[in-house]
Amino acid sequence: MGGSARETPVLLQSSPQPSDMPKQVFVLNGPNLNLLGTREPEIYGRDTLDDVRKRAEARAAQLGLTISFRQSNHEGELIEWIQEARSEASGIILNAGAFTHTSVGILDALQASQLPVIEVHLSNIFRRESFRHHSYVSLAAKGVICGLGGQGYEFALDAMAKLVA
Ligand code: DQA
Repeated sequence: MGGSARETPVLLQSSPQPSDMPKQVFVLNGPNLNLLGTREPEIYGRDTLDDVRKRAEARAAQLGLTISFRQSNHEGELIEWIQEARSEASGIILNAGAFTHTSVGILDALQASQLPVIEVHLSNIFRRESFRHHSYVSLAAKGVICGLGGQGYEFALDAMAKLVA
């Protein structure tokens, strides 16, 4: 055979690797946060949770992250989502609402996840009743953002992008 036989072209473009794929962050919201916009607006503002979600999704897109934004009034469901995050997410942003101050179960799930956690509160919990000054979530959190309203979720995404980079 002569040397003119065509060689099989080598496919240089590789399939997407896990490291090329956008990192997913779970943004989880606890009880009564579905009422945002009408719930004590002097404390929590007039934005709805849907407004907060839309702004968080826009910021995540700018940062090259995808988010799964969820809300539940049920402690067990939040715990199941934190467990799901172990295989599906690179980090967790959590506003656990009132469960922040009561739930050892949520703390245990966060610690088991071994994921970076950022705790968010719309209100400044340290300016409020003393029972809100203690947070179980904080024991598992890299950082806490509180008192900045819905913008706090965007700041949490900025920080999370660096933590998962
Ligand atoms: C909250 C603060 C909690 O103390 C309260 O129970 C909430 C909302 C906040 O976002 O400011 O439900 O997490």
